[in-house]
Amino acid sequence: MTPVNAKPKIYIPRPNFPEVIGRLESHFEVVHNQADQALTAEQFRLLASQADGLLTTGSDVINESLLKACPQLKICANMAVGYNNFDLLSMTRAGVLATNTPDVLTQTTADFGFALLMACARRLVESEHFLRDQQWKQWRYDLMAGQDVHGSTLGIIGMGRIGQAVAKRASMGFDMKVIYHNRSVLPADVEKACGASWVELDALLAQSDHVMLVLPYSPECHHMIGARQLSLMKPGAHLINIARGGLIDEEALVDALERGHLGGFALDVFEGEPQINPRLLTQKRVVLTPHIASSTIQTRLKMSNLAADNLIEFFSRRQALTPLNPEVLEK
Ligand code: GLV
Repeated sequence: MTPVNAKPKIYIPRPNFPEVIGRLESHFEVVHNQADQALTAEQFRLLASQADGLLTTGSDVINESLLKACPQLKICANMAVGYNNFDLLSMTRAGVLATNTPDVLTQTTADFGFALLMACARRLVESEHFLRDQQWKQWRYDLMAGQDVHGSTLGIIGMGRIGQAVAKRASMGFDMKVIYHNRSVLPADVEKACGASWVELDALLAQSDHVMLVLPYSPECHHMIGARQLSLMKPGAHLINIARGGLIDEEALVDALERGHLGGFALDVFEGEPQINPRLLTQKRVVLTPHIASSTIQTRLKMSNLAADNLIEFFSRRQALTPLNPEVLEK
């Protein structure tokens, strides 16, 4: 039991900005793991079981079994916009508030999605390896020839804040035709501002030169891009994933590339990350990055501060800036 007037105990399982930890320390008793080594599930459970609040990242799983081991836990502030690491229903049932970090990472993540699209279509990484390996001997008319980005068709799957920011870059900056698929069609004025129009998923796959995944993961959309969907894509098209690894069947993806059907793909997220399917690592026409789409110093600091603000607001005024299950606050 927390003694009366004791400061709430916050546990931070992964290294974080010292200035944010310092800010939290002026409100809370803070325990943090600054070692650059992820804890085992058992170590995490033990430390979480003594905490009133957690500052989690997308790899910290909060499910029913963990909640049972954490009777004094009241809030998990995720330093990520995605929250598929949270079992939200169980958290709500247990009266544990969940928060995430929307908005602050939208533009940075969209920048990176575009960087992956450019790198993939223009064979940037493959070219760089070719040069470093001292294979560049002379000019050739088709040396590392890729596909145009400007003027081509981009298909965006998932048209939330980040999808819309990608669409604006594509339509305004690169004169691309932008089509999108989303559960709901956006209001006409938003579509107009993005220069994008809604199509069925199969039509998007068939018409796009480049397809980008920007939708949240849920078990219902597990492997939504599998062999059938990949076969619908245009020959030579590119697939970019900045959402969650579980959306794509990676075996089917590599098969499609090896068959010569796809032009390439770029992934920032992987099923089972940080473990990577070894077949991905041997492919040439791919760009693989370690889940860093939101990773600029400015944006990661904003995400960290927003997660900290949620903890501070909750314990000082029983409020939160970006709650995911606000019904908990009403109890
Ligand atoms: C990153 O993947 C996030 O969800 O913020």
